[in-house]
Amino acid sequence: AFKPRIFSGIQPSGGLTLGNYLGALKRFVEKQDEGIETIYCLVDLHAITVWQDPDKLRQQTREAAAAFLAAGIDPKRSVLFNQSQVSAHAELGWIFNCVARLGWMNRMTQFKDKVGKNSENASLGLYAYPSLMAADILLYHATMVPVGEDQKQHVELTRDIAAKFNHDFGVDFFPAPEPVIEGAATRVMSLRDGTRKMSKSDPSDASRINLTDDADTIAAKIRKAKTDPEPLPETLDGLKDRPEARNLVNIYAALSGKMPEAVLAEFAGQGFGLFKPVLADIAVATLAPISAEMGRLMADPAEIDRILGEGADRAEPIARPILNRTLDILGM
Ligand code: ADP
Ligand code: NA
Repeated sequence: AFKPRIFSGIQPSGGLTLGNYLGALKRFVEKQDEGIETIYCLVDLHAITVWQDPDKLRQQTREAAAAFLAAGIDPKRSVLFNQSQVSAHAELGWIFNCVARLGWMNRMTQFKDKVGKNSENASLGLYAYPSLMAADILLYHATMVPVGEDQKQHVELTRDIAAKFNHDFGVDFFPAPEPVIEGAATRVMSLRDGTRKMSKSDPSDASRINLTDDADTIAAKIRKAKTDPEPLPETLDGLKDRPEARNLVNIYAALSGKMPEAVLAEFAGQGFGLFKPVLADIAVATLAPISAEMGRLMADPAEIDRILGEGADRAEPIARPILNRTLDILGM
C-alpha cells in the first residue's frame, strides 16, 4: 500500500491562464488545504520540448512560481520546486523511455494536436514528453494527480508505464496513480470560439485571460467573448450544442463554487448582456488579488529563487532513494 501523496506540475511555457487556474492551481490549493502531502513542480524540462528564449524561460519560471504562491500554495505545507533542479526527473525519464512502447506514444492525442501535420519538425522531446511526465509522478510514488481534462491520457499512460515496469521486473514498486479531474472547469475553452482549449502555449489566442491581467482587461475579454443570441436555458441539456455558452457557465460555476445546474437555475431566461457583467465581476474579484500578489512577489526574484531552491532541497531526498531503488531493480 502506498500512502496518499499528490504530485502535479505546470509548464513555465508562458503566462498562466484562467484555464490553468481553474483546472489546476485552484485545485492544487484545495488539495494542500485538505492536508494531503502535496508536491508541485514547475516542469521546465517539459517547457523546452518547444524552443524557449532562455531569458524568458527564467522569467516565466519565476512568474509561474509567483502564481502558485499568490493562488495560495504555502511552500511550508507543499513542496514547490523547479524540475531541472532535481536531476532524478531526467534520469527516471530516460529509464521510462525504455519502458514505454512506441505504439503507446503514437496514441497520445496531445502530441498530434500540438504538431498537426508538421510532425517531422517536432522535437523528439515533445514526442517523449508523456514518458517524462510519468517519471515526474512516479519519482515520488504519487498516488493522485490533479490535472485538467487534457492531461487524463498522460496519467493513464503513467499507470501503464508503472504496471509494465512492475511486471517486467517482477516487483510491486511503482503505484498506479489516479488522475483527479474534478470541478466545473476541467477544460476551460478559448473565449474566441469555445471549441479549442484556453492555453498559455497558444500565442495566437488574444482572448485568453492571463493571471497577470488587470481588472479592465479581464472585463473587456469577457465582454468580447463569443456567444450566441439565445438566453440561458434551464438545464444542462439546453447547452449541448452551445459550446461558447456552456464554457461561460462552467467558468462561472467554477469561480463561484456552484454546480453548473445551480448557475442555470439562477440565470435561466437571461441573455449574455446580463450574464457577462456578472461573470466579469466574479472573475475580477477572484483574479485581481492574485495578479496584485504576483506583482508584489515578482518585485523580489531572489526570494522566489530562494523558495524554489528550498523546495528542490525537500524534493531531492524523496526522489533520490526512489531513483536509486529503481536503478537497483534494473541491475545498475
Ligand atoms: P498549457 O496547456 O496552458 O500550456 P500545461 O500543459 O502546463 O498548460 O498544463 C498545466 C495544468 O493546467 C494541467 O493540469 C492542465 O490539465 C491544466 N490546464 C491547462 N489548460 C487548461 C484548460 N484550458 N482548462 C483546464 N485545465 C487546463
Ligand atoms: Na497542457
